[in-house]
Amino acid sequence: MSNVAVSFKYVQKKFAGAAETAIDQLSFTIHQGEFVTILGTSGSGKTTTLKMVNRLIEPDAGEIEVYGQAVTSFDVNQLRRKIGYVVQQIGLFPHYTIEKNIATVPDLLNWEQTKTTARIKELMATIQLPYEEFAKRFPRQLSGGQQQRVGVARALAANPDLLLLDEPFGAVDAITRKELQKQIKQLHQSLASKTFLFVTHDITEAFFLGTKVMIMQAGQIEQFDTPENIIRKPKTTFVKNLLATVYAEEEIWRQYQ
Ligand SMILES: Nc1ncnc2c1ncn2[C@@H]1O[C@H](COP(=O)(O)OP(=O)(O)O)[C@@H](O)[C@H]1O
Ligand SMILES: [Mg+2]
Repeated sequence: MSNVAVSFKYVQKKFAGAAETAIDQLSFTIHQGEFVTILGTSGSGKTTTLKMVNRLIEPDAGEIEVYGQAVTSFDVNQLRRKIGYVVQQIGLFPHYTIEKNIATVPDLLNWEQTKTTARIKELMATIQLPYEEFAKRFPRQLSGGQQQRVGVARALAANPDLLLLDEPFGAVDAITRKELQKQIKQLHQSLASKTFLFVTHDITEAFFLGTKVMIMQAGQIEQFDTPENIIRKPKTTFVKNLLATVYAEEEIWRQYQ
């Protein structure tokens, strides 16, 4: 039995003034090394779920654990440094070089400069932005796709066991997006036993990347299983309808072949 990386037990969240409950009695277990994609329509509670893991949002009730420890038992800054976080808006510091952006967490942790530089060089090789060419550039001197890769490198800098990604490729063009998907999948495979939790509203992206896919609707899980099991045995009408939209799209392309 592998280690549990993240667990939710009866987690509940209703935002002040909101009519609907954002997260409704949400329970699940994610094992170490999995690449879990959270798939759902806008407003289904994906971002709220992710932000409760690193305590950017606090639940009203329920228990959330990371590696067997309640998230509330950590100092919040300590917790966030242990967990990588990548968002669509990237959030690179515009007046810091690429090198300095990637060094954000190592600098906060007061790593020795030689260790930080070695780590930056290693990460920049991983994301295929050669150090000599890119380290001294500023974010505006990179394409959107390259900036996204720097965002991923920055999140991985202090070697976190858990990486949270919230629609990280939402703002890049379709071709770049496909390329980034392949790269993030390879990255996960190369980093043995790291756990990725990746939010998307793109069905194909969710099924391509996920070792397991969590389909959410109205703050609850419709189905949480391997892509294969979901496709073979969709559990609810919602899931069947979701898959039907993909098959309908396929038809559009097939008619011209
Ligand atoms: N800070 C907030 N205040 C009030 N309501 C919020 C807030 N954040 C999210 N919500 C609501 O909670 C629900 C879930 O939102 P969210 O988790 O952002 O969905 P998703 O990421 O799946 O699009 C939505 O109905 C949204 O309007
Ligand atoms: Mg969201």
